[in-house]
Amino acid sequence: MSKRLENKKIVVTAAGQGIGRATAIAFNNEGANVYATDINEDTLKKLNKEHPNIKVKKLDSTNKIAVKDFSESLDTVDVLFNAVGFVHHGTILDCEEKDWDFSFNVNIKSMYFMTKFIIPKMIKQNKGNIINISSIASSLRGLPNRFVYGTTKAAIIGFTKSIASDFIKNNIRCNAIAPGTVHTPSWEERVKAAKDPIQAKKDFIARQPMRRLGTPKEVADLAVYLASDESDFITGVTHAIDGGMSI
Ligand SMILES: NC(=O)c1ccc[n+]([C@@H]2O[C@H](COP(=O)([O-])OP(=O)(O)OC[C@H]3O[C@@H](n4cnc5c(N)ncnc54)[C@H](O)[C@@H]3O)[C@@H](O)[C@H]2O)c1
Repeated sequence: MSKRLENKKIVVTAAGQGIGRATAIAFNNEGANVYATDINEDTLKKLNKEHPNIKVKKLDSTNKIAVKDFSESLDTVDVLFNAVGFVHHGTILDCEEKDWDFSFNVNIKSMYFMTKFIIPKMIKQNKGNIINISSIASSLRGLPNRFVYGTTKAAIIGFTKSIASDFIKNNIRCNAIAPGTVHTPSWEERVKAAKDPIQAKKDFIARQPMRRLGTPKEVADLAVYLASDESDFITGVTHAIDGGMSI
């Protein structure tokens, strides 16, 4: 039986840990040729050791020249999975200009560079597929202490719709995924950094009506569907996967 992503060449960003890593593995398991990128070389090496079929490349997605060079090293790309993101904790009062600039750089400019340099290949192929990681904390829901994070994640929804609209004629699809809280290494760090970590953990779980966190694998399974031809009639849509947070 053929696998769901057989022969697809897929670039994954933020593949060193969490959702990006789980998605790179799920894509590989479904037969894709995966190019896993991340700024962290150590986590990439670990990924490659455990999954030797996955090609890894250290890449800072906010570095324009590095992204351009990387995209030029690839002949074709069928799917681009943009997962780079950083959570700044706080309201507008806690968000200095440097925090604003950092979050916009990491969360959205990285996506702009990756897409800008890879989409010409998709136009040439007259086929392509881009999947962007947004969040429930975005234009979908306002959550406390997620001011600049939610603002950037809302921008990703607009970005996704614009790309979907502009390139539908080129047979290029673009969708977003909006997870609720997912159990990843950075989530564990956020809990540890809280004033009262035990209460913080309880609060994270309590805000999800299913009373549990999502797993990176659950998000990866949705990404496999969106990357596959099974979802060929879907574009410009933000897909919530959030344990009921957005009901
Ligand atoms: N974990 C959650 O609860 C949750 C919920 C909603 C959305 N998201 C989003 O999902 C995405 C992944 O989050 P996660 O929690 O799985 O991952 P994470 O925060 O645990 O890991 C992020 C990865 O991104 C890499 N990275 C950071 N800056 C980079 C850069 N400039 N270039 C390349 N790589 C870089 C890091 O090295 C790391 O491997 C993010 O966009 C995040 O905002 C996460």
